[in-house]
Amino acid sequence: MKEGKLPVVVLISGSGSNLQALIDGAQSGELPIVLRAVISNMPNAYGLQRARAAGIPAEILDHRAYSDRVHYDQALWECVQAYAPELVVLAGFMRILTPAFVARYRGRLLNIHPSLLPKYRGLHTHERALAAGERTHGASVHFVTEELDGGPVILQAEVPVHPDEDPRRLAARVLVEEHKIYPLVVCWFAQGRLSLGADGLPRLDRKILHQPLRYHELSPDLLCGGAHKALP
Ligand code: GAR
Repeated sequence: MKEGKLPVVVLISGSGSNLQALIDGAQSGELPIVLRAVISNMPNAYGLQRARAAGIPAEILDHRAYSDRVHYDQALWECVQAYAPELVVLAGFMRILTPAFVARYRGRLLNIHPSLLPKYRGLHTHERALAAGERTHGASVHFVTEELDGGPVILQAEVPVHPDEDPRRLAARVLVEEHKIYPLVVCWFAQGRLSLGADGLPRLDRKILHQPLRYHELSPDLLCGGAHKALP
């Protein structure tokens, strides 16, 4: 177990409800992290207000001011590094990162994606899951690699798809699960229990995760003393 609180920077593009789950966990003391900064590529992202309300430095780095991805990601890296995080959390950050950026944070870069990866990488996951007639959908937390939404998955939460489901309601139900699983994974990392091995596989408590863990099957010792919302 690590001592002290882990410095974290969160990257967002929008509402920031996953950011809020991390803020809540940090403020309640359940998550052993310090949110050093929130950075958004979208100037009007509501998550910036959430950060300011919590007293966290909120930075805007508008991608439209840069000629290409390489220059943007260089500026992003400089902005992130100014806060010296040990973990970078993508929370609804809707940009593809360059391999150079990803390599700099190998094993220290997490993402949450609204599908049961490897299904439905990319955008419009809820619409695509419904169109495919899926009976189960959900969200995944994974280490970020150069492959878009392709990094090794650590934890997933499933939701049943209702017969009369529409994408908005499905997205909302998935989001509720996201707010449970993201703080948990961040908690494991902050406690020094989670890492990415040189073989590209995650380790939790020194055990290799060959398959993603499933939220509803977690043993009590993995629940981080309430860093998640209560199990249903
Ligand atoms: C979340 O559903 C997250 O999984 C998704 O964006 C939403 C952000 O919500 N991320 C992606 O699609 C990344 N590919 P939030 O801003 O309220 O946390």
